[in-house]
Amino acid sequence: MDTAPKKRIFSGIKPSGDLTLGSYIGALRNWVALQDDFNCLYCIVDMHAITVRQEPAALRRRTLEQIAQYVACGLNPQKNIIYIQSHVPAHAELSWVLGCYTMFGELSRMTQFKDKSRKNADNINAGLFTYPVLMAADILLYQADLVPVGDDQKQHVEIARDIAGRFNQVYSPTFTLPEPFIPKTGARIMSLQEPLNKMSKSEQDGDGCICLLDNPDDIMRRFKRAVTDSETRVAFDPENKPGISNLMTIYSCATGKTFDEITAEFDGHGYGDFKLAVGESVVELLRPIREKTADLLNNKDYLAKIYRDGAARASNLARKTLDKVYRKVGFVGK
Ligand code: TYM
Repeated sequence: MDTAPKKRIFSGIKPSGDLTLGSYIGALRNWVALQDDFNCLYCIVDMHAITVRQEPAALRRRTLEQIAQYVACGLNPQKNIIYIQSHVPAHAELSWVLGCYTMFGELSRMTQFKDKSRKNADNINAGLFTYPVLMAADILLYQADLVPVGDDQKQHVEIARDIAGRFNQVYSPTFTLPEPFIPKTGARIMSLQEPLNKMSKSEQDGDGCICLLDNPDDIMRRFKRAVTDSETRVAFDPENKPGISNLMTIYSCATGKTFDEITAEFDGHGYGDFKLAVGESVVELLRPIREKTADLLNNKDYLAKIYRDGAARASNLARKTLDKVYRKVGFVGK
C-alpha cells in the first residue's frame, strides 16, 4: 500500500469574464482529473480580477456562477477546498511580504503585464504590476507541489518558484517549490476567429470565444463561422493550419479521439462537415455543465456553504505558513 502523503495542488481562475472553453480545457477539466490523487485547493481569484476595472454587480454574479461551474464540471466540494480568494486575508498578507523579495526588473519582464498594459493603457495600475506576487502568495501559502494551468500561466508559476527559492535561501527552507502542470493537449486553445490568438475571456463578445454557459445555437453558429484555411485537408499542422489544428485539439479533447483518428474520420469530407462535428461535440460536452450550473444557481445557500467551508479550511492551512513567514522575517508574535 502506498502510504506517502498526497501532494498538494493549488489553482485558480479570475472571475473577470465568463468561463471559456479555453479555461475548461486548459485548466478545469484537469483539476477534475487530479482531484482523487491530490489534496487540492481551487480558488476563485477575485482579487486578481480587479487589476482590470470590473463592474461590481457583474463581478459578484460571475464569482457565484464560477463556484457553481466548478462543481458542475465535476469538482467535489467535499474532496476539494473550493473558496473565494478575498475570503482568506492571508493571501494579501503574504503577498505584501513576498513583494519585498521580488525585483522590479523581474516583474517588468512578465509577458502578461506587458500585454495587459498595452490593452489597458489608461489603467496601468500597481496591482497589474504586482499581480504575479499575489499569485505567488496564492500558491506558496498552501505549500503547493503542483499548479495545473494552461500554457499562458507558466511564466507566473516560474516566478513564484523563483520568489520561493529566494526566500528559502535568505532564511531557511520555508516554501515548497511549485511546478506548473500543463496538459499535453489543449494547453492553449485559440480564438475561433483569430487562431493565432488565445481564446480569451476578456474578448468574449465576438464569435471567437465559446463560454461554458453558451446555448447550443450560439455554439454551433460560432463553430460554423470558425476561420480555417484555403485547403480541404483535416490535418494537424499548427504552423500552417492554425485554425484547423485548433479545431482538431478541441474535438480531440471533447471526444478523446487522437489526431490520426480525426484525420482518418474526415478524409474526403469538406471542412463544413468537420466544423459541424466539432460544434456538436462541444454542445454535448457543455450541455450537462450548463444544466447542472443552472440547478446549482437555484440553491444559493448550498453555494454559500461551499465557499464558507472552503474559506475556513483554507484559512487554517494558510495561517500556518503565514505564522512561519512572519516569525522568520522577524515580526514579533501576537
Ligand atoms: P485565467 O483566469 O486567465 O485563466 C484560468 C486558467 O485557464 C487557463 N486558460 C487557458 N488554457 C488554454 N487555452 C486557453 N485559451 C486558456 N485561457 C485560459 C489559464 O492558463 C489558467 O490556468 N493568473 C491566473 C489566475 C491565478 C492563478 C493563481 C492560477 C491567480 N492565482 C494561482 C494558478 C495558481 C489567470 O489569470 O488565469
